[in-house]
Amino acid sequence: MAEELLRKTYQVHGRDFDKAGETATEIKQLLKGIGIDSDLVHRTVVVAFEAEMNVVMYATEGTITFVLTDEDIRLEIADKGPGIEDIDMALTEGFSTATNEMREMGFGFGMGLPNIRKNSDDFGLESEVGVGTTVSVMIRLDASA
Ligand SMILES: Nc1ncnc2c1ncn2[C@@H]1O[C@H](COP(=O)(O)OP(=O)(O)OP(=O)(O)O)[C@@H](O)[C@H]1O
Ligand SMILES: [Mg+2]
Repeated sequence: MAEELLRKTYQVHGRDFDKAGETATEIKQLLKGIGIDSDLVHRTVVVAFEAEMNVVMYATEGTITFVLTDEDIRLEIADKGPGIEDIDMALTEGFSTATNEMREMGFGFGMGLPNIRKNSDDFGLESEVGVGTTVSVMIRLDASA
């Protein structure tokens, strides 16, 4: 069994574009501070940032739970929001329901979820329409394990 070394939970508020990305930045500083390999830091930050942005853009409220074990990094992003009707579609590169306003801010390429999945060693997406969405990611510390 993996031993849990560190656990942190962050709140993310829907529509709060001013604070968007803050959690991903905090997680980046934390991982750098404990000397995690820069490639792993990068992958974790991509996952955290894209998932955080999706909460800001589409959901009402969410939490990002970060867990470091002696074997891996785990991120669980759970939100209350509209949920996702068609998960396969949402995971398709280029699919986006972002508004024009979001696109003007540089979002809405439909690349967030595909990039989260690419950067994960294990990826899960569960969603219930009208209730919310949970993204679960695991990134191994030792790529050869
Ligand atoms: N947490 C969520 N709640 C509800 N719908 C979501 C959520 N995350 C993603 N979606 C839906 O899945 C689509 C694809 O998400 P994805 O992150 O891949 O792209 P995007 O957010 O539209 O654009 P980008 O991430 O490139 O800025 C979104 O447009 C949205 O319709
Ligand atoms: Mg996105």
